[in-house]
Parts: sequence; C-alpha cells; structure tokens
Amino acid sequence: MPNDWSSSGFDLHIDIGTAGGRRAGLELALREAVRSGRLKPGTPLPSTRGLAKELGLSRGTVSAAYDQLAEEGYLTVRPGSGARVAEVPASDPAPAIPATAPATPRHDLRPGLPDVSAFPVQAWLRACRRVLGSAPPRTFGAGDPQGQPQLRAAVADYLGRTRGVLTTPDRVVITSGFYQSLGVLSRVLTASGIGAVAMEDPGHNVYREVVQRAGLATPALTVDARGARVGSLAQDIGAVVVTPSHQYPTGVPLHPERRQALREWARATGGLVVEDDYDGEFRYDRQPVGALQGTAPDQVVYCGTVSKTLGPALRLAWMVLPRHLVGPVVRAKQETDMYTETIGQLVLAELIRTHAYERHIRSARLRYRRRRERLLEHLAAFPALTPHGVPAGLHTLVTLPPGGMTEQQLMAACADRGIAVRGLTELHHRPTPGTPGGLLIGFAASSEHGYPIALEALSSVLADAAR
Ligand SMILES: Cc1ncc(COP(=O)(O)O)c(C=O)c1O
Repeated sequence: MPNDWSSSGFDLHIDIGTAGGRRAGLELALREAVRSGRLKPGTPLPSTRGLAKELGLSRGTVSAAYDQLAEEGYLTVRPGSGARVAEVPASDPAPAIPATAPATPRHDLRPGLPDVSAFPVQAWLRACRRVLGSAPPRTFGAGDPQGQPQLRAAVADYLGRTRGVLTTPDRVVITSGFYQSLGVLSRVLTASGIGAVAMEDPGHNVYREVVQRAGLATPALTVDARGARVGSLAQDIGAVVVTPSHQYPTGVPLHPERRQALREWARATGGLVVEDDYDGEFRYDRQPVGALQGTAPDQVVYCGTVSKTLGPALRLAWMVLPRHLVGPVVRAKQETDMYTETIGQLVLAELIRTHAYERHIRSARLRYRRRRERLLEHLAAFPALTPHGVPAGLHTLVTLPPGGMTEQQLMAACADRGIAVRGLTELHHRPTPGTPGGLLIGFAASSEHGYPIALEALSSVLADAAR
C-alpha cells in the first residue's frame, strides 16, 4: 500500500506491502529508506500516533516497528523527543543486475557452442525423475568436494570406453566447467613452485587469462599444420596446456610424432601436460583419436566438459589426474566453492549410465557433420578463403587472403547483418601486423531451422566482400 507521509512533516513515499504482515512491511520500508539515504540521519520521524493514523495501522504496530528498528540501530528513540533516524552508512543504490548473458544473435555462427535447441530435455527429465524418485535424504545434504561418486564412476567408465582414458573413479574430479578445472589446477601449480605454463598460440584467450590470474606466465607455444610445435618447449617450463584432438582454433589434430615428443618432454622434464579435450567427441570422418592421457596417465591431466555435448548452462566438467595431484586439486577445489552442485551431477551420472548421453552425442554428431559439409559447400564459392582443420568439432577456421577485406571489416559487415562469428586475431598471444586475419565459424550453435538461413546471410556478406 503506497503512502506519502507529506502530512507528517516530511515527504516520503513508502509501500509497506501486505505480504509478511503490516508491521514487517513497515519495518522493511523504513530500513530500506534509511539504508538508501532517502531518510537522512537526524530526521525526526512522525509520532507513532500520527503515522498510525496516516497508514491505517494501530499505534501499537508503529510503536513496535520503531522499537525494533531502534534495537537494530536504524533509529534512536528518546522518551519525550520521539524517534529520529540514526547514523547509518547509506548503501549505494541497489545496482542493476548486469546483463551478462549475451543475447542470442539473429544468425548464430559462434564457435564452440552446441545446438542447445536440441538439448535432450525428455531424457534429462526422465533421469531427474529416476534420481530424485529414489533419492535418500542425504542426497540433499552436503556434496563431495571431489564430485559425487556416482558421476565419477560413470565418467571413468565413459571416458575409458569412448576416449581411451586410463582411470579409476578415485582419480576423477568433477568441476563446474573447464574454466574452473584450469583455474584450480593453475593454483595448485603455482603453489608447487611452477612459474610458467606454455599455452598454444593461437589459443583461447579466456583460458590464457585464467592461468595468468593464478600468477603464472603463459609463454607461447606456436601452432602449425601439425598442431602445437612441442619441440620448442623449454626444459624449465612446468606445464603446458594443449588441445591434441582438435587444436583450438585451427582445428588440426596433434601429429602422432608430436604426441610422442610431448610424452617424451613430460617424462624427461617432469613437466605436466594439460589435455583440453573440449570437443573430442565430435569427429566426422573416422573414429575420434584417443586421448593423449591414455598413453601417459602419470604425466597428463585430462580435462573434459559437457559444455559442447549438452550445453554450457550445466557447468559440469571433469579432470582425470595423475594420482599425486588428486589431493591438492580436491583441496583447491574445496577452497574455491566447497563442491559442485550435486543434483545435476547425479542426473548426468544417470544419463551416462543409461547411455542416453552417448545417444544424444551420436545424433548431434550426424547433424553437425552435415552442417560442416554444408558450410564447406558455401565456402567453396569463395576460393580466396582458406578453410583449416580436419572434419571435427563445432567450428571451422577460415583465413583471409592478404589485400582483401580485413578481419575487422568482415566482422563489422557480419555484425551489421546480425551474424555472430569470431575473429582469429584476439586468439593470438601477440597479434602482429603480418598475421593473416581469419574467422571462426561455428556450425553447431544455430537451430536446425536457423542454420541454412545463417549460412545464406554469411554467404551474402562474403559475396559483398569479394566484390
Ligand atoms: C578451447 C576450449 N576449451 C574448453 C572449453 C569448455 O569450457 P567450459 O567447460 O568452462 O564451458 C571451451 C568452451 O568454450 C573451449 O573453447
């Protein structure tokens, strides 16, 4: 119920509401007015009788509210002189909730995102019902900082079968995304005295920043047509982050000789290899190449995520660790957020256990394979553009010829048409003027319906640029 206290000696619009009782509403409104600075320190409040009349409350209700606020320190009440606003530091006005979630673009060709319109809602609901329908009360209690045992067991089994990862559930740690996996691991590396972690160049700038925030240097590990040039790794580098199945962003797998060289570097120097297997499930021309971890489980930390298979909304991911790192990583994870939300973990475990997870991946793989072929058909009309990478993942990198439209111009032209793609330049550690520009085109993010339309829009921008 809104009210203006103009007749009570000062002007204050207040709404004491009705939910929770009128006395509670009055207290809330007064507290908010004092804290926001709308009622300045020293301001006399209306008499209990006057305010009661004005608000249609009993005098006892107003008096009790004043007493309560006096006890909390918002008001001072002196016999004979009534209530006044006390000295309370005014808080800043409540900040607007920042709109951090990016709006969905008209034509969604962002790399690295799956088609979330195909999220397996029914399978998720069924798994959720099964999990909650038979859940003992402790399910809703505190979780395990290492991750729920059911999910660790399901993940260990799944990764062994599908990615050739060598593990047992006690070496799996569940996290809230690769972002967190890498952050936690970086803190452990810093604490163990490591000062530098080599990172692929080009590579994902966001993850470079995650490592840097832990106080680590991130020397560049350049990438060519055979993947990361691991022969250039210095002996004194403590760790390296690589994307062996499908280098991000170039899309090339790490050549077998380089895999071998990387294992040898790790064995010879005691260095740690962090394998970011972000989209290893998606290979379209053959069986996915098994994880590097499978041939060096004591030197490699394997990292996976459901962000590409199901959707980034879930914030669920895993690390498979060399045994000596399990304790330190679990402690660092616990210091970060206690444990990852447990119900989602249990539902995912059920989805994996019943193979619904793999069925979803198989069906997505078929659709993405067709979409990638379609993208390449469109790109074939622009021979000056060079597509890179093997048939895999959720995106294709195309580099631009010198002398034509620059990456920035092309990005701007795409943005004008509502097309979201990503530029290559920001993924370089230190972009130099001679570095070719490029676009990362995601073929998975659109819905089935939206994808052909997005491709037409992209083709028309590329045709304009070619003129
Ligand atoms: C290179 C790379 N690694 C890992 C991930 C997964 O990150 P997260 O599990 O934090 O969503 C992504 C997602 O964008 C990625 O692009």
